[in-house]
Amino acid sequence: HSLKRLNTFGVDAYANSFVEISHPDQLVNLFSNKDVVNQPLLFLGGGSNMLFTRDFNGLVIKMSIKGIQDRVEGDEVFVKAGAGVVWNDLVNYCVDNGYSGIENLSLIPGSVGASPIQNIGAYGVELKDVFYSLEAFEISSCTIKSFNKQECEFGYRESIFKGKAKGQYIVTSVTLQLSKTSNLNTSYGAIEAELVARGIENPTINDVSKVVSHIRVSKLPDPSTIGNAGSFFKNPIISSAEFETVKQKHADVVNYPTANGSVKLAAGYLIEQCGWKGMVVGNTGTWKNQALVLVNHGGASGQEIFDFSEVIIQSVKEKFGVSLEREVNIF
Ligand code: EPU
Repeated sequence: HSLKRLNTFGVDAYANSFVEISHPDQLVNLFSNKDVVNQPLLFLGGGSNMLFTRDFNGLVIKMSIKGIQDRVEGDEVFVKAGAGVVWNDLVNYCVDNGYSGIENLSLIPGSVGASPIQNIGAYGVELKDVFYSLEAFEISSCTIKSFNKQECEFGYRESIFKGKAKGQYIVTSVTLQLSKTSNLNTSYGAIEAELVARGIENPTINDVSKVVSHIRVSKLPDPSTIGNAGSFFKNPIISSAEFETVKQKHADVVNYPTANGSVKLAAGYLIEQCGWKGMVVGNTGTWKNQALVLVNHGGASGQEIFDFSEVIIQSVKEKFGVSLEREVNIF
């Protein structure tokens, strides 16, 4: 089964077999068959955070559970969405209904089920800020378990599902806790600037969603025309001592102090300073408006993109002494 249309990088790779899940009960049936569990398994949502560097000798399970339900309690609303709902469809549903909390996460590619795995975030908001709970299929017990926010152990682009529970659960639905009174976060510089440019003083939820979408479209390549998986690397977080060393040689380094004293650097800046922004290397390269995004200009193999990412890591290490970590899952 070709995986080319199941990953936003658009790289070609094959899996032995493939199944699509549209109801949690199908997982119970599937996993009660021992032959199924005794082969390598790979769960896919929108395939927007995945780089295939080789074929997969096992079963690919695509999560396509649909449905959005909401429950209003006073000023609050709990919105539950199936893992297979397209993330941006959920954002539009909430914006259209006046439910505030995820408008800053407009236009992020991928599915609802993938959103908690790496605690998606953009423009000053992270999923964990509005997350209430999720349901996940536990492979070992063949049952559905519930996780509250604390149990998910969210961090910057991290959760328990990338850490110690990796490979043990499959998210089937996510519930968000949103507000009916718009509680907007417009502190991100680019949002503020765009609101001013549009002469909007008292933005609505819809305004913020439109502005964020506009910023994303202007900076990030559209995966339906140019294969990519958004930010390829995480923004590195270093200690204040390491930061002092970096600053001695690079006084202008773009940085954001964090609450615990460590410093987050803008990986896009580091990559750009190494001369890689907009460079085309074979069939791959970095995006012209955002160096943190690696792209498939057409016909790139996963290995070619991976090799290019190694070159970037080396070059940032040499110039800044900082190690970049990949944000995209490598398979
Ligand atoms: N910068 C450069 N050159 C570049 C790109 C960025 O110098 O080519 C510098 C600029 O100073 C810029 C700063 O880096 O002001 C930050 O750039 P940007 O606002 O584009 O954000 P980012 O830190 O590069 C993160 C997320 C994005 C998210 C944006 C907006 C990570 C790994 N990436 O990028 O998330 O959309 O913030 O909030 O945290 C994703 O994860 O796929 C993703 C796109």
